[in-house]
Amino acid sequence: MTEIGGGQTAFYARANIVPLPMIARAEGVHMWDEAGRRYIDASSGPAVSNIGHGNARVAAAMAAQAETLDYAFPRLARNRSTLAYTERLARLAGPGLERVHLASGGSEAMENAIKLLRQHAIATGRPAKTQVITCQPSYHGATIATLAMNGEVMMAPFLDGFATPTPKVPAPFAYRPPDNQDAAHYARHCAEALDRTIRDLGPETVLAFVIEPVGGLATGCLVPPADYMARIREICTRHGVALVFDEILCGMGRTGRFLAAHHWPDARPDLVTLAKGMGSGYAPLGAVLAPAALVDDLAERTGFEFQYSYNANPIASAVGLAVLEEYERLDLIGQAAWLGARLRSGLDALAADSPIVGDVRGLGLLHAVELVADKTTKAPFPTALQPTERARRHGLDNGLILYARPTSGGRYGHWLLIAPPLTITPEELDDLLARLAATLQGLAADLAGRLEARAGLEPAYKDLQSSA
Ligand SMILES: Cc1ncc(COP(=O)(O)O)c(C=O)c1O
Repeated sequence: MTEIGGGQTAFYARANIVPLPMIARAEGVHMWDEAGRRYIDASSGPAVSNIGHGNARVAAAMAAQAETLDYAFPRLARNRSTLAYTERLARLAGPGLERVHLASGGSEAMENAIKLLRQHAIATGRPAKTQVITCQPSYHGATIATLAMNGEVMMAPFLDGFATPTPKVPAPFAYRPPDNQDAAHYARHCAEALDRTIRDLGPETVLAFVIEPVGGLATGCLVPPADYMARIREICTRHGVALVFDEILCGMGRTGRFLAAHHWPDARPDLVTLAKGMGSGYAPLGAVLAPAALVDDLAERTGFEFQYSYNANPIASAVGLAVLEEYERLDLIGQAAWLGARLRSGLDALAADSPIVGDVRGLGLLHAVELVADKTTKAPFPTALQPTERARRHGLDNGLILYARPTSGGRYGHWLLIAPPLTITPEELDDLLARLAATLQGLAADLAGRLEARAGLEPAYKDLQSSA
């Protein structure tokens, strides 16, 4: 008889799936499966669970709000929970980002950011502004519009004739720049590609350039050089193009500052999108942070009237506020900075010892380790060997839940995301690193055996990067 329901796993590809543990409960950085096995949540899911699991204060705030006021549709009524939350978020974001448009997640927030800019362009007599430029590779969401923004080569057949992919410029990878360029030179080339693309399209047609200021899974936590950030700011300003930072994954304190944008005061974005850590897994939340000048001007003209039934939900807002109170009570942003440094030196030490870790990159408690078949040539593993899937399996064997999956078919490389909850203690972090060392050791032996059975390595990523 056909099983009814089947959870989400029923939708995933049958082939090559790592058996997923049946998680029964979670507390802090730990999760337990039904058999009582304990795992460290090494990546906070997909960098979501910033305040850790089982937080009683947030649960109590959620219950209290549900008992007092569960729902009030924002087009029909205001509520104190949402007012307090948006004010707190805007204060943390700082000058220039005084308005907060709430959403139920990252993809929705990303679309709202683009819609806000588009609506303002129309309201101010610039209807030709229809183009949004993004990076290759990149990730901005899973709605149809955001899939078209993603720099994900494997989506080409899905999008073909269905949705129009955005124009792409190369992401400023530093580990393996094409044609043996040095990283700084390549970053300049990437910024010039943005300038050229805007000029080719016609600046009057370009609405925005959207970039993850610190990457997530699509780039393995790429941190662009400061010089690159200053250049893209200057290029966008010169051409009248909005610079949007997608901080859905890297914002909310993960990099050791509330916004990743706060690391680059000379490259301030026009809009920022947030999600993930906002609700920290307790409520679906996302947001666009925008300047009061833009939002208030638009409100005078046409307003921004796009509405979802669940945006600015009072319970979600109460959760978001309680999450921010935990940030303050536990100094989680400071913690991300100083424990981030400990994570980095631990990962650097692992990389020095491991024959398969070619690069470590990231900021704060948001890092990735890049897996390579050869550290000297930086040759990636053949994607057919499924290095990231195997890593997840070895992780589970060592009590680690790792977030890793091949992006762009592995053409830019293979990496594991290491982004534990910001509440992790130094002892728990050391435990995570010890388990990761064991995971990498098992993985190296596993992959070495499989590599021997193959002749040569895949060329892959280079052609793509130089043509991006
Ligand atoms: C950088 C970035 N943007 C957008 C999204 C989409 O967010 P969501 O999954 O909440 O829709 C993600 C999710 O992984 C992300 O990492």
